[in-house]
Amino acid sequence: MNLEEVKELLEENHQEQLLHFYEELGEQEKEDLLKQIKELDFSLLKNLSKKEKAEERGKLEPLQAVEIAEIEEKKKEFQEIGLEAIRNKKVGAVLLAGGQGTRLGLDKPKGVLNVGITRKLYLFECLIKNLMEVTKLAQTTVPLYVMTSEKNHEDTINFFKEHEFFGYPSKDILFFKQQMAPSVDYEGKIYLEAKGKISLSPNGNGGWFSSMANHGILEDIHKRGIEWLNVFAVDNVLQRIADPCFLGATIQSGCVSGAKVVSKADPEERVGVLCLEDGKPSIVEYYEMTEEMVHSYTEEGELSYRFGVILNYLFRVDKLEHIMNKHMPVHIVEKKIPYIDDKGNLVNPQKPNGYKFETLVLDMIHELENCLPYEVVRNYEFAPIKNRIGVDSLESARELMKENGIIL
Ligand code: UTP
Repeated sequence: MNLEEVKELLEENHQEQLLHFYEELGEQEKEDLLKQIKELDFSLLKNLSKKEKAEERGKLEPLQAVEIAEIEEKKKEFQEIGLEAIRNKKVGAVLLAGGQGTRLGLDKPKGVLNVGITRKLYLFECLIKNLMEVTKLAQTTVPLYVMTSEKNHEDTINFFKEHEFFGYPSKDILFFKQQMAPSVDYEGKIYLEAKGKISLSPNGNGGWFSSMANHGILEDIHKRGIEWLNVFAVDNVLQRIADPCFLGATIQSGCVSGAKVVSKADPEERVGVLCLEDGKPSIVEYYEMTEEMVHSYTEEGELSYRFGVILNYLFRVDKLEHIMNKHMPVHIVEKKIPYIDDKGNLVNPQKPNGYKFETLVLDMIHELENCLPYEVVRNYEFAPIKNRIGVDSLESARELMKENGIIL
């Protein structure tokens, strides 16, 4: 595609601003910019016009979970089934670490965050330690696949290498990159982050499985004979990974996926809720729930939509392969996006200034025939670090870590 053709393409999509500095660029930069433009998925921009309309949902109904008391009762049985799957090498884990952590304001991978106070204790290290509790018990390792993005891939790998993979066998940690998507202003114009560079950001955590397939990781999964993948977020420091009890309960239930859930702290808590939509499992975001749903109670006085997801899922690999090429809903997320203004000055906004396009892992659940909601004790397993201060911050996570006897 030559310059004229690129110009036409931009005109068609109302994105001519991308060539604003073109004439100032060197030959190589010019070539690189044209290449970036050619690779852009302009169809994503169409989602902006749908933004105003609230997402139409199907018929929503509550979904029962296997609750803490029942899990306690059957713990030994579940644990044994799960451990057997791990010992038979049927289980792998996927760490979603491609996000940018914009709320936290770090310019490094979130996992390198030091959560210690009197000693160094990194987020990645905590997660590996948690996983190692299971691998010690099972006397075998669990392959760990780490999803990074263009923005943090090298830093993530170097950090693991520097720290000798925190004692985990390096042959069992594989890294793969997720895809990127353009960021736009409120008018839908794609931002430039440098004169010859389009502003791209990770395209959400929903593309993890297809990114794995694109990077040859699926072959590794087949070669190792892995049947279940436990997908989890980087920022929940109390995260239990490849939890044998969760695995056992999901396998025994016959479900093809499982989701760890917590009882909502209060009706208004801002978590996605696992329920049934047109008879299939689905996660409804807190902002999509009607007042009636939020305040609906069972005869026992419990919230009807009580179980919030914590981004810890189990998926059967064969089922993931079935849904891999399905179109996933694109979410439009308001974020702070660094950009260059029309004079070429870099601007680091203090408040949101546009949108990113993301697909989400939670939408995969609805593509599957069933899902076992598995309740966990929130103070033992849920300490997300999302914000600088206040709710779900480093401070609140540290308190929970102390409560769990972790020396900081
Ligand atoms: P969040 O939705 O909290 O996003 O990610 P984030 O990018 O980390 O943080 P903010 O919203 O910019 O502050 C939940 C999990 O999904 C991963 C994150 O790394 C985290 O583990 N994630 C998110 C990805 O792997 N890729 C993405 O594109 C987005």
